Amino acid sequence: MVVGLDLLTGEPDEMAALQRVIEGAPTYARRITGYPPGPADAQSLMTGCPPGVGYSDKFVWGVTLDDDMIGCADVIRGWPSRETAHIGLLLLSESHHGRGLGQSAYQAVEAETHRWPGIRTLRLAVVATNAEVLPFWRRMGFAETGEVRPYRYDKLTSESIILAKRLPGPESGYAGRVAAARIARCSSR
Ligand SMILES: CC(C)(COP(=O)(O)OP(=O)(O)OC[C@H]1O[C@@H](n2cnc3c(N)ncnc32)[C@H](O)[C@@H]1OP(=O)(O)O)[C@@H](O)C(=O)NCCC(=O)NCCS
Repeated sequence: MVVGLDLLTGEPDEMAALQRVIEGAPTYARRITGYPPGPADAQSLMTGCPPGVGYSDKFVWGVTLDDDMIGCADVIRGWPSRETAHIGLLLLSESHHGRGLGQSAYQAVEAETHRWPGIRTLRLAVVATNAEVLPFWRRMGFAETGEVRPYRYDKLTSESIILAKRLPGPESGYAGRVAAARIARCSSR
């Protein structure tokens, strides 16, 4: 079983698969909107962007298990600050929950964002009505920042709890220590 990411470009077959994935997670939709998934949710996910962000910094991936799309991830690069990537959504269809696949999907997303030059922090918002997922994010290394924002969708009023995770810098880890040792050797010649 191989979990992967497939960057979506909006092709009709991809959009149909994305819509199926979202419809496979009705509990999430009810928690954050008060309604079951809607027929235009895949389209909204593909097109939704924070103000001032261009599509070149928006990435929607299908999460694949072998060759089937079982989930999706939406990430904005360089928002709300240049060194931050914001995870708008990580979602798996409910039939795939609780088997370690969310963790694998998250790790793949983190690896992608870590390659982006200048990105040092991952950030996301958990709506308080969906607080059941907080332990998942803590397990992935995120912590509450203390920032809480008002959240509203139609009749549902709640709060967005902001979490963040600092990514290891290029100077940390084994490769970084080896590089630093090389630089030290060069400069002492
Ligand atoms: C959040 C989500 C992606 C997690 O995926 P998952 O495949 O169920 O999670 P995993 O099985 O990979 O769990 C990884 C770890 O997190 C823990 N975890 C996951 N969900 C948890 C929960 N609700 N409560 C407590 N721990 C949880 C697991 O126990 C596991 O820990 P372990 O490694 O110590 O055993 C999935 O539940 C989902 O798609 N939810 C709907 C969409 C959603 O709410 N997304 C988040 C929006 S902010």
